Amino acid sequence: MTQHVHYTPAIPRRPRPQSPSLSQRLWGLDWESVLPWQIDDVVVELGSLEEALPFMRDHYTEIFSLGDGRFYGEMMSEAKRRFFAEMDIFVLRVATETVGLIMGHPTDWSTYYLRSGALLAEYRARAVMPRLMEHVYGPLRDAGVERIETDASPSNQPVIRLHLSQGAMVTATGNSERWGAFVRFTKFLNEEPQDVFARQFCAMPVHTGLPPAKDRSRS
Ligand SMILES: CC(C)(COP(=O)(O)OP(=O)(O)OC[C@H]1O[C@@H](n2cnc3c(N)ncnc32)[C@H](O)[C@@H]1OP(=O)(O)O)[C@@H](O)C(=O)NCCC(=O)NCCS
Repeated sequence: MTQHVHYTPAIPRRPRPQSPSLSQRLWGLDWESVLPWQIDDVVVELGSLEEALPFMRDHYTEIFSLGDGRFYGEMMSEAKRRFFAEMDIFVLRVATETVGLIMGHPTDWSTYYLRSGALLAEYRARAVMPRLMEHVYGPLRDAGVERIETDASPSNQPVIRLHLSQGAMVTATGNSERWGAFVRFTKFLNEEPQDVFARQFCAMPVHTGLPPAKDRSRS
């Protein structure tokens, strides 16, 4: 459920990304109209590849253990740059320091994919990400998005706890050439597709930790 937070910017607003993202072109979703969000001392704003790259360069190797050669490292290319320009890049800042990122994009007309999310270690386990996620649901739902999908390593307990705490359901598992074993989480933004998934594929009743569907607000 989206909270409306009154926010007085402590730092100058960054220029918005140069070209409209895929979310904006597909769904008319203008994140700028609902941002920024303030979560304790963390300010969340729409960013660009230019803002995301230094954080990724400085921290992703350590955060995602990329340094031991277990993953195929794809260098920046013109196509990759254009793909990043299509994504929504949410930059988390404390004062002028970038302390985290979330990147996501549509994968079809009603599905949003959370591609990557990371916080510096000292900002974790403070419920920053769950509160951020709750800001994201309303605008996506209002734009007609039915589900948010994301993939996680089965060994990544914090992210699994995060998605379960958000009422996301495990809807697939798999192995990818790029990232190894993964668990797919789907956070349904309305009840109908979740009910169909539960009816067709889940033998047990749904227990997402959220109130029953009939009591859930669609706002
Ligand atoms: C995953 C991540 C974004 C979660 O954000 P967050 O703001 O720390 O989320 P929370 O504070 O709700 O913590 C999530 C859960 O993990 C737990 N947790 C946090 N750090 C943990 C750790 N090092 N070991 C075990 N559990 C941990 C929290 O207690 C919480 O569980 P609970 O709700 O049952 O108490 C953050 O841990 C992170 O950046 N991790 C590294 C990058 C990553 O793995 N990204 C996901 C894959 S793209």
